[in-house]
Amino acid sequence: MATSPMKTIGAGELRSSHLGDAVTLAGWVGRRRDHGGVIFVDLRDSTGIVQVVLNPEDAPAPEDVLHGLRSEYCIQVIGTVRPRPEGTVNDDLPTGAVEVVAETLRVLSPSRALPFQIDDRVEVDESLRLQYRYLDMRRPRMAENLRARSKAIGAMRRVMEREGFLEIETPTLIVSTPEGARDMLVPSRLRQGSFYALPQSPQLFKQLLMIGGVERYYQVAKCYRDEDFRADRQIEFTQLDFEGSFWGQEDVLSVLEEVVVEVVQELRGEKVALPLTRMTYAEALERYGTDKPDLRFGMEIVDLSEVFAATEFKVFSSVLGSSGCVRGINGGKLGLSRSGLDAFVSRAQELGAKGLVWMVVEEAGSLRSPIAKFLSDAELAAIKTALDGDVGDTLLIAADDARVVGKVLGQLRLDMGQPDDNDELAFAFIVDFPVFDVAEDGGLSPAHHPFTDPGDIETLVSSPEKSVSKAYDLVLNGAELGSGSVRIHDPEIQAKVFEVMNIPPEVAEARFGWFLEALRYGTPPHAGFAIGIDRMVSILRNEPNIREIIPFPKTQTGADPLTGAPGRVEEDQLFDLGIDIRPEVRAAWAEDAGQVEAEDPADA
Ligand code: AMO
Ligand code: AMP
Repeated sequence: MATSPMKTIGAGELRSSHLGDAVTLAGWVGRRRDHGGVIFVDLRDSTGIVQVVLNPEDAPAPEDVLHGLRSEYCIQVIGTVRPRPEGTVNDDLPTGAVEVVAETLRVLSPSRALPFQIDDRVEVDESLRLQYRYLDMRRPRMAENLRARSKAIGAMRRVMEREGFLEIETPTLIVSTPEGARDMLVPSRLRQGSFYALPQSPQLFKQLLMIGGVERYYQVAKCYRDEDFRADRQIEFTQLDFEGSFWGQEDVLSVLEEVVVEVVQELRGEKVALPLTRMTYAEALERYGTDKPDLRFGMEIVDLSEVFAATEFKVFSSVLGSSGCVRGINGGKLGLSRSGLDAFVSRAQELGAKGLVWMVVEEAGSLRSPIAKFLSDAELAAIKTALDGDVGDTLLIAADDARVVGKVLGQLRLDMGQPDDNDELAFAFIVDFPVFDVAEDGGLSPAHHPFTDPGDIETLVSSPEKSVSKAYDLVLNGAELGSGSVRIHDPEIQAKVFEVMNIPPEVAEARFGWFLEALRYGTPPHAGFAIGIDRMVSILRNEPNIREIIPFPKTQTGADPLTGAPGRVEEDQLFDLGIDIRPEVRAAWAEDAGQVEAEDPADA
């Protein structure tokens, strides 16, 4: 680390090679052993920990200062590096062979008694951690997460610079654009009653940059989406966003592979094998029931429709007769009791299935199942073969339309499957996404965003639900890390997509006229991608929640326990903005004021 007279070396940098050196250290008091005589202090700074020895006989400071040291006091120590006495060497600590005998100790800043211990092994309620985030980030795990985040972004920048991308900032006060989520809005004072939207992503601006001749753009971009919180979702998050002109899907995926290799090398010290696994959306859905398959284990979904083509079992024959399907998975040797097996049935029903059939392969090779008696011997044998059933295996079978079966078996697969190795990384590209997601009521919404190349135009017009787009995702261990697509560069096709989405031309012109206009000035073919940096780093750090990777995140209810955001503002601020708070909202405020502010519960 960079040094100064206040600090000549990092605590964690000291090694046997420094024996005899005079050093000035500065940092915080970690563990402290003070039995009235010699005091031992673990001095911690951003580089690590070293043991400091304070001997009152050397008078490094007045006795009251020495014995008054408490946890997290910020101190400076001037002293000499010496070997630790025999038998006290700590092999678990990089600095464990040495210690620093203090000649001078200065308290730079005392600390109040702490709301929680600065120790990874102590469980602390998350809202308390977030309220004192500045203390929480002194804990080694958080400190390491912040370092990893910085390293990951550094690695990303290295690839982008190497490949000739220009880093360009795009505005964060923009106009509302159709990207799928709800916008976060900012009222305008100069144009009362008008609102800026915070960008859900730099999507349209990066496309304008392509029209502007930039050819290669990237940005570490803050994005804002007013969505419900989840373990992998915040209303404010960060993307590595990039875009290129005169290139297509293969160019994007090859840059992405470079990013993946560089980031994993940086954070894990491992070499990711290329090319990354690639699978179409249709294949992912069929084999794993999801467009973000966890490929760390097999347990694939197998189609059994052929097996039951002529079945007498009514449940299956009626589903097959109404263009549904019958599929199954082999959950392996679960050794469950009858009630354990029946629990799968209720779980499947929770997930939307009408029912679920379980079967267990018995010693004799026969199948034990509540419905075995309704199936022929040939069917039972064929199930076992199709699902590769071995003695003791549990087989689960669902019949419904493909969407329901995929959802149910895909989730049961995740419930049952465990990667053999928790450190494994299974990246995959999912390609050939549909243009539209079809809602239960038949309504169409863009599967990616409406600026994605919809492929064949005739299909788009005649049967949009069958259209395959040039959109692709990057998946890691069952999570969507990022998405991108080849874009529409023809204004006519862009207008057509809005039309298919049921946005009338006048409305499209009124809302996105500025963008359609831009497309009319020699737009180059272009394509791009965005990686969710928070998600990528959290998975590489084995953190179950992106809040662990975000320096100052919000809780599940969108609050920041540290600063109290979101907060109310002065009446004259509202007046200046031309905003009136609705009477019922004010009434609710008054009611709240009567109660103690409820604690903001963090994630379950
Ligand atoms: P998309 O909307 O798929 O694509 O977002 C890309 C990636 O951003 C991350 N992400 C989030 N991370 C945390 N909290 C959230 N609320 C959140 N929402 C998204 C995910 C996701 O895969 N403009 C397009 C990209 C493009 O087409 O180039 C876009 O934003 O990891
Ligand atoms: P039922 O005829 O509803 O009593 O169902 C007979 C058996 O078939 C039960 O074990 C149900 O759980 C199962 N079952 C019912 N519907 C389905 C379905 N759609 N897919 C798989 N199994 C089903």
